[in-house]
Amino acid sequence: MIHSIDPSILFLQEEEVIKAGALDMKMTLDAVEETYALLGQGQIINPPKTHIAMPIGSGANWGSFFNSMPCYIGGDYNVGGTKWAAESKKNATIPGIPYGIDITVLSDPETVLPFCILDGTLITAMRTSAVAGVFAKHTVPKDATTALLVGAGVVGRTAVMAVCEAVPQIKKIYLADLDVTKAEGIAADYKNVYDVEIIPTADAKSVAGEVDVVITQTTARSPFIDKSWLKPGLTIINMGSMEADLETVKESDIIAVDYWDQIITYDSKAAAQLYKAGELTKDQVVELSDMVLGKWNGRTDAAQTINCSSLGLGALDIMIGYKLFLKAQEMGIGTMVKLWDKPLWE
Ligand SMILES: NC(=O)c1ccc[n+]([C@@H]2O[C@H](COP(=O)([O-])OP(=O)(O)OC[C@H]3O[C@@H](n4cnc5c(N)ncnc54)[C@H](O)[C@@H]3O)[C@@H](O)[C@H]2O)c1
Repeated sequence: MIHSIDPSILFLQEEEVIKAGALDMKMTLDAVEETYALLGQGQIINPPKTHIAMPIGSGANWGSFFNSMPCYIGGDYNVGGTKWAAESKKNATIPGIPYGIDITVLSDPETVLPFCILDGTLITAMRTSAVAGVFAKHTVPKDATTALLVGAGVVGRTAVMAVCEAVPQIKKIYLADLDVTKAEGIAADYKNVYDVEIIPTADAKSVAGEVDVVITQTTARSPFIDKSWLKPGLTIINMGSMEADLETVKESDIIAVDYWDQIITYDSKAAAQLYKAGELTKDQVVELSDMVLGKWNGRTDAAQTINCSSLGLGALDIMIGYKLFLKAQEMGIGTMVKLWDKPLWE
């Protein structure tokens, strides 16, 4: 990146982030693979996210939360930044506001000047499902044709895009939500976009036995997937807090996580609970970096079940945000703001 002492910051609102290509799922999938490859090669500094649950004392029963997700990406990128991520249960009941709202800041690692602030909400939705797509690409059975996506909110929508782009052999998607009208809406929106049949349902469990991969992106506060869902060769990918119970995760033949060092810090994740109970160690899991770097060769037996789980990586938001910043600059879009005309003290 070009270093400068110019304190100008390009501000990109959601509409401009879209113009710069935020809804391009192919680009997002490539960026996810590249980020996990760099992570696995030691080219990324990405400490576990800092989590603030509100109101005070609510812990795992939070009503809303803020996450701070700083990172530095080395290699040819040499860019730093942070995502300020937030979710609110209340938002799920208020029309006109997303459940999750995020903002991303990109900074020059040498002068440490911020040079871009952009809406990170869509990037989050796209990259979250792209992670599920990459997990699916590396873990679904070779002859997989059918998927079940549980949760038809914002991330459920992008999950349809991710599965269709990352695993095009999937020709039938069951899309489940407690509110089936949400699944129906997404099914109608994507009816003629991909070569796939999307079947809305309110009853995920009733179709689970038919599918090769289950991907969950719900706001459920307690697990709803139990051992009875585990059939030979099934892949389950959990993007929410804890949708599969501890026994289900424990009894999977293979446990995969996006990033071990971070996921064990987040108590609501099954991997963290198993680790803290002394029942899971790093050398027993497969990390997403291992998959994208070709260090893991897949199931050794077609009947093995795989449980994958993700907590999300700030580096993904910075990587994609940086690509969108470069594109926006090229397109001449966004609004320039300044930290100062001349710094008062230096
Ligand atoms: N792993 C990551 O990187 C990452 C990043 C962002 C969001 N997320 C998680 O993804 C999840 C979804 O986020 P969103 O923005 O799409 O929320 P959203 O509110 O837009 O959608 C959530 C949907 O889940 C449905 N739901 C809740 N419980 C359910 C159940 N038991 N069965 C079926 N459907 C159920 C709701 O009806 C709703 O439609 C959240 O848990 C969020 O924390 C994960």
